[in-house]
Amino acid sequence: MPVDNRIEGRLALITGASGGIGAACARDLHAQGVSLALTYSTNASSLQDLVTSLQSQSSSLKITSHQCDVAKDADLSRLFDEIKAQHSQHPDILVANAGYGKRVSNILDIAIEEWDYTINVNLRSSFLLTKLAIPHMQSQAWGRVIYISSIAAGGTSINGCHYSASKAGVQGMCKNLAQKMGKSGVTFNDVAPAMITGTGMIPDEAALKGTPGDPAGIPVGRAGTTDEVANVVTMLCRTGYVTGQSILLSGGLK
Ligand SMILES: NC(=O)c1ccc[n+]([C@@H]2O[C@H](COP(=O)([O-])OP(=O)(O)OC[C@H]3O[C@@H](n4cnc5c(N)ncnc54)[C@H](OP(=O)(O)O)[C@@H]3O)[C@@H](O)[C@H]2O)c1
Repeated sequence: MPVDNRIEGRLALITGASGGIGAACARDLHAQGVSLALTYSTNASSLQDLVTSLQSQSSSLKITSHQCDVAKDADLSRLFDEIKAQHSQHPDILVANAGYGKRVSNILDIAIEEWDYTINVNLRSSFLLTKLAIPHMQSQAWGRVIYISSIAAGGTSINGCHYSASKAGVQGMCKNLAQKMGKSGVTFNDVAPAMITGTGMIPDEAALKGTPGDPAGIPVGRAGTTDEVANVVTMLCRTGYVTGQSILLSGGLK
């Protein structure tokens, strides 16, 4: 199979681009000449600000924004219909980033509804998005699927077991797909961040004080940035020899 790591001119779908990590991924891929389909769930103004800022930098790349609650199957299929109508194709790159995690640490305080919703947003939607995305990628024997998982998948978390389970599920699914679809031209990897500030989940380091993610306990002595997560996502898009990997971005935190 020929080596093709070109991403310029391709189309990326980034879910949750109204949030910190998704917006950083959008900026970084846009800088590489990638067209974008970006989603928000509730924060339309944040996504509009991002789109306005990117469009002021380059008017030649198409950027579309889409409202999508990833917990709703109908929203996901509508999203793909909208992308096809507006870009005349489905995405070449999927960054499944939209995620939810209410900080409830003790299992006894985690309601069943909270468990179900967390699994739906973080894991079930990743499965559905992948099913919608891969037919186009397979048809052209080129695609990149990148899930934003979490250090929580391995147990360490400021959040509870529901969140860890949802992210561990994403990692398992990713590794299975990488094995099953290795020869398809589509790669599957996940990026597992920890303690990334500038996000709705962790606005700043003060939000981590006294938690298992306290910067004092992070080997590099600080929290991570959204741009650092985006760097890894872009690297995975540009490196087709990497598949089935989970890349931990944690400043050395285990
Ligand atoms: N920050 C960290 O340290 C950290 C660590 C590990 C993993 N992560 C993961 O990184 C990803 C991005 O989070 P972030 O840190 O950038 O936090 P964030 O700024 O709060 O962004 C979360 C994004 O997810 C979207 N979202 C939430 N629920 C949704 C739903 N039901 N349907 C569609 N979109 C939904 C939000 O959309 P609206 O705002 O428009 O509603 C927002 O765009 C998540 O998967 C998170 O689990 C973050």
